[in-house]
Amino acid sequence: MKLSLRRSRKKPSIYQTRQASNRKLKNAWQSLCCLFVISLPSINLANHDHFTSITVTPAYPTKEPILPLPAIPQLDPGKIALGKKLFFDVRLSASKKLSCASCHDLSSNGADYQVHSRGHDNTPLAVNTPSIFNAALNPWQFWDGRARSLEEQINQVIENPREMANSWPVIIRRLNDDPVYRRKFEKLYADGISARNIRNAITIFERTLLTPDSRFDRWLRGDKQALNAEEKKGYRLFKDYGCTACHQGVNVGGNLFQKVGIFADYFLYRDEIHLADYGRFNVTGRERDRYVFRVPSLRNVAVTAPYFHDGSVNTLDEALRLVARYQLGRTINRNDIQSIIIFLKTLTGKYKGQWLTQAHAP
Ligand code: HEC
Ligand code: HEC
Repeated sequence: MKLSLRRSRKKPSIYQTRQASNRKLKNAWQSLCCLFVISLPSINLANHDHFTSITVTPAYPTKEPILPLPAIPQLDPGKIALGKKLFFDVRLSASKKLSCASCHDLSSNGADYQVHSRGHDNTPLAVNTPSIFNAALNPWQFWDGRARSLEEQINQVIENPREMANSWPVIIRRLNDDPVYRRKFEKLYADGISARNIRNAITIFERTLLTPDSRFDRWLRGDKQALNAEEKKGYRLFKDYGCTACHQGVNVGGNLFQKVGIFADYFLYRDEIHLADYGRFNVTGRERDRYVFRVPSLRNVAVTAPYFHDGSVNTLDEALRLVARYQLGRTINRNDIQSIIIFLKTLTGKYKGQWLTQAHAP
C-alpha cells in the first residue's frame, strides 16, 4: 500500500512557474464554471441499495453560497435504533475489537482526533478520519470520493483488510447467533438478517447524524442576532478571499473535487509521497486527477483537528495559511486569518442538543 517516491527538491524556474501558473488559473476558471452546475441549491442523495434518499432544498430563496443543514429526517425509529446498535458493535470487525464508533466517536466530534486512526492489527490508516457528522449529505464518500453512497462506503470499510478486515458471511453468522439481533431484524425486515439490511439500518442511523443549530445556520435562517460584527466580518472575508469557490453548499464543502496544490506543489517538500496522496487518480486512473481530493466539509471544523487528508496540520491557523498559498495562490495576513477563524467557529453545531467539542486536542 505504501508506495514511496523520492521527489526532487529543486525549485521550478520562474518561466516554469509562470507557465504553470497560467495553466493553474485556467484550471481554476474551469472549476469555477462547473461550480454553477454543482452548487445548485438542491442535492439529491439517492443511493443504489435502498429507497432512502434526502433532497436538500431550502424552503426560501437564499443569496448565500452556503445553505443551512436540513432538519434531521424522520426515519423509522426501530431502524435508527438498530443501526445505532450496529454502529457500536465490535462484532462487525474480524478481531471483535473495532466498531464504527471506535474511529467515529459520537460523544465528541464524530472522529477520533488522531492523525491516522488505527485499524485491524493496530496499523495506522492511510488518511485522516473524517467526521461522521453530516457525512450523509456528501454526494461522494471518502477523501477521494471512491464510494458514491453510504451503502458502498460500508462494504468497503467492512472488507478492507486494514480496517475491519471482515466479510459479510462472518458478520451474518455472528449476528444470527444473537437472539436479540434475530428478533429485531425479523420485526423490521421481511427477510431478517442480511448484508443489505445491515447496511440499510446503519445508513438510516447515519442519516440522522446531522449537527443542526450552529449559530451560522441560525443567521442564514434569518436570526440577525445570531452572529456578532466580528463573525460577520469573518464571513465576508471568507467570501472575499474566494473560499466559497470550493467550500460551499449545505456542508460548506464535500460537493466537488479539487486539486490539492493548484497554485503551488503541496507535495514538493515532502520526503515521501504515498499512494493515498494521489487522491482521485486512484479511482479514475486519469492523470488530471492526480492529487485531486473531495473538498472537505468545514462544518464543525473548529473541533475536528487534525486537518487535511494526511492529518498533517494541527491548527486552523496553519490550515488557512496553507490553503491561501496552495489553493488560492496568495498570502493572507494574521488579522484576516483570525477573523476567518472566528467565522469558522460559528459553523460548530449540536448533536442531541449538545455542542460538539474537541475534548482531547491532538
Ligand atoms: C479503524 C478506523 C475506522 C473504522 C473502524 C471505521 N471508519 Fe469510517 N472512516 C475511517 C477513515 C480513515 C475514513 C477515510 C478513508 C478515506 O477517505 O479513504 C473513513 C471514512 C468514513 C466515511 C466517509 C466520510 C466522508 O466524509 O467521506 C463514512 C460515512 C464512514 N467512514 C462510516 C463508517 C462506518 C459506518 C463504519 C462501521 C461500519 C466505519 N466508518 C468504521 C476510519 C474508520
Ligand atoms: C480551490 C479550492 C479551494 C479553495 C479556494 C479553498 N479551499 Fe480549503 N481546502 C480545499 C481542499 C482540496 C482541501 C483539502 C486539503 C487536503 O486534504 O490535503 C481544503 C482544506 C481546508 C481546510 C482543512 C479542513 C479539514 O477538515 O481538513 C480548511 C480549514 C480550509 N480548507 C479552509 C479554507 C479557507 C478558509 C479558504 C479561503 C481562504 C479555503 N479553504 C479555500 C480546497 C479549497
